[in-house]
Amino acid sequence: MELNWHRIYQKQAEWTQSTRNYLFRRAGLHRASIILEAGCATGVITNELASRTSAITIGIDNDLKPLSLIDTNNQNLYIACADVHKLPFKKGLFDAVITNYLLIWLENPNEALKKLYEFIRPGGYLLICAEPDYDGIIEYPDSGIKTSLIKSLQDEGLQHTDLGRKMNEILSALSFEFESGFVNYSSSGNVDDILSIIPGINKNQIGNGWVFIQPIYYAIIHKPR
Ligand SMILES: C[S@@+](CC[C@H](N)C(=O)[O-])C[C@H]1O[C@@H](n2cnc3c(N)ncnc32)[C@H](O)[C@@H]1O
Repeated sequence: MELNWHRIYQKQAEWTQSTRNYLFRRAGLHRASIILEAGCATGVITNELASRTSAITIGIDNDLKPLSLIDTNNQNLYIACADVHKLPFKKGLFDAVITNYLLIWLENPNEALKKLYEFIRPGGYLLICAEPDYDGIIEYPDSGIKTSLIKSLQDEGLQHTDLGRKMNEILSALSFEFESGFVNYSSSGNVDDILSIIPGINKNQIGNGWVFIQPIYYAIIHKPR
């Protein structure tokens, strides 16, 4: 299954828009002066941040290929090739650090979270906007989409298929002060929407009344002053 990543990032961003609206408001991003998206890939979320805030918005990713596709027209937006474990910034610099569909790709999300937290100023926020729990997908009747989606992501390097359900445990172990929840992506009534990013699946393969529900975790972590 060959995946069109930029299209997938745009779709994921569409599905989780209302969660980001809530998190951005809760973190007061309209007042932020400098923010970071870690693992920004093609910049879908970084661009959203740069256009919705007046903050200096920096996107970093350790892969140059997606970075080369970022639309850098927004004058608030800056990008850099860097690893989340070795960020080239001053500690405590950012009003907010944002991740979106990043932690599932990391071998050790705990370590990365600990590092990212160091770069937030006292009183600032770490926003985990979306981390899916692929094992938690409900698909009925079973058309094999869940299984082939997980397999293609693992072929691309996905590290965790059940991270969503473990996130509260991870954040608690790090002694972070946080609020969290799940939103569900549901295909109900719009099968074409999910099929538009999963190539090679014919609509006729799917039984009548097909249901595909994916739980997606989010959290807002506040760094005490
Ligand atoms: C699924 S993409 C997320 C895309 C983007 N956040 C969005 O939602 O549009 C995950 C990105 O994390 C990047 N990544 C993985 N490990 C990383 C690391 N250790 N440091 C920085 N970026 C990393 C990958 O290169 C990939 O572009």
